[in-house]
Amino acid sequence: MTAFPESSSAETPSVAGNNTTITACSDGPLLVRGDFELLRDDGTPIENKRSTVALCRCGRTGIAPFCDSSHKKKRARAT
Ligand code: FES
Repeated sequence: MTAFPESSSAETPSVAGNNTTITACSDGPLLVRGDFELLRDDGTPIENKRSTVALCRCGRTGIAPFCDSSHKKKRARAT
């Protein structure tokens, strides 16, 4: 079972707002581009000065909520 939904292409863009796009990368992060504000679940802002960020959706990152490419590491399998 994969942690990500099936996708027919490497990147599946979707529109989030007037100047914002969110791209769900196959087996990778969500790429958010454009005008956006990142907030914690309590509503406090997460400092970000970039116009594009990669948000982790695998849960393995060490720098949440951002992707640190840990999704590329293979998982150890039980024998
Ligand atoms: S999606 Fe890249 S570390 Fe989770």
